[in-house]
Amino acid sequence: MRLLQYIDSAKAVENRFTRRQIMAEAKKLGGAGLRGQVAGKTALSTVGVSGSGLTYRGYDVKDLAENCEFEEVAYLILKGKLPNQAELDAYKTKLQGLRSLPAELKTVLEQIPKDAHPMDVIRTGCSMLGNLEQEDTSVMGVFPTQEACVDRMLACFPSIICYWYRFSHDGVRIDENTGDSSIGAHFLHMLRGEKPNELHERVMNVSLILYAEHEFNASTFTARVCASTLSDIHSCITGAIGTLRGPLHGGANEAAMDMIEKFSDADHAEQEMMGMLKRKEKIMGFGHAIYTESDPRNAIIKEWAEKLSQDVGDTVLYPVSVRCEEVMWREKKLFCNADFFHASAYFFMGIPTKLFTPIFVMSRLTGWAGHVMEQRADNRIIRPSADYTGEELRSEERRVGKECRSRWS
Ligand code: COA
Repeated sequence: MRLLQYIDSAKAVENRFTRRQIMAEAKKLGGAGLRGQVAGKTALSTVGVSGSGLTYRGYDVKDLAENCEFEEVAYLILKGKLPNQAELDAYKTKLQGLRSLPAELKTVLEQIPKDAHPMDVIRTGCSMLGNLEQEDTSVMGVFPTQEACVDRMLACFPSIICYWYRFSHDGVRIDENTGDSSIGAHFLHMLRGEKPNELHERVMNVSLILYAEHEFNASTFTARVCASTLSDIHSCITGAIGTLRGPLHGGANEAAMDMIEKFSDADHAEQEMMGMLKRKEKIMGFGHAIYTESDPRNAIIKEWAEKLSQDVGDTVLYPVSVRCEEVMWREKKLFCNADFFHASAYFFMGIPTKLFTPIFVMSRLTGWAGHVMEQRADNRIIRPSADYTGEELRSEERRVGKECRSRWS
């Protein structure tokens, strides 16, 4: 009823709103995909509410991306406040000391084939780590080692991804102790076998900050549901990784790359995009479940993608990406989300496409863990209800009885 009333009133003001905004709002009120429903409380972030559109614990993501290191933001998300210099130094040193992988985990990673999806690799890696270094859940509802488990995962997820990648693709057993102080530089160093330059380290840092936290998105909600059963933290994170893998969520950055690398120039991109829109195909890296006008992370990563494009002397991919953005806005009033310009930025840094979403994991782990701890601190098992759409109550006693008799007698 509320939905019908809304659509009626929306018709009357149609000239003030785009049809897409009206339909998006109608869908929201209709409740599909839980859109517009409040499913819990969080003090971790706001999406589309204040600042440029995304805040972590009250700080605008734009300010954090401009002024902070990723480890500072991880500390903020996990511990509730920005660290001072001494705290940051100590935290980075601690994480550096946790990068080595257990031999048993390396053995598992060496069994995984080259053509496996790296998101499946990191999912398995996280799960195996949970077997080798179990969280202490001996007293129900008390988690004395949760922070230690999170620090360990934050420090060694890049090692898991790169160890498998370099072993399966190049036959190389990497050294997980690169000596780089930042997680971003450490990742690129293990991947390429050499220290990255300052620009690449900076972009990795910005990228990890932008992806770190995003309220009740699908993967975070998965983690919270798992946490609400009082399960262990490795199970929560493993479930979240599986959810992030989908192309409608984190997998969009890889899907966007697969698309833009097929376009030979901006005109070709426009022609192909028009065809895709005509065929009503979804274009990855565009649109968002919460933002309606723009994704605040896009302007930031787009600027860095442009810098990287100039740095490598690119004349194709960045102009292609910009044209895609223009066409989508002109034709559908759809804007780039965080994933779209991440695709070209990562490409310019020589990162293989299939590692794009695992980088998202390295970062979002902080948000997931923050939410797991928040859920545990004020827990009630998450158990919504469903509208039943099946048959009315039926009486099948005799038939069931007969079947039972013939089957079991
Ligand atoms: N390409 C083409 N059309 C799109 C689109 C896209 N990327 N995103 C949304 N639309 C269209 C839908 O087809 C729909 O049109 P319709 O009302 O005529 O059916 C309308 O815009 C509303 O989209 P909807 O799918 O209802 O939005 P949602 O809130 O359910 O989904 C996303 C949000 C993010 C899943 C969706 O925009 C999407 O699939 N984007 C591509 C994947 C992606 O980039 N994901 C990363 C998100 S950060």
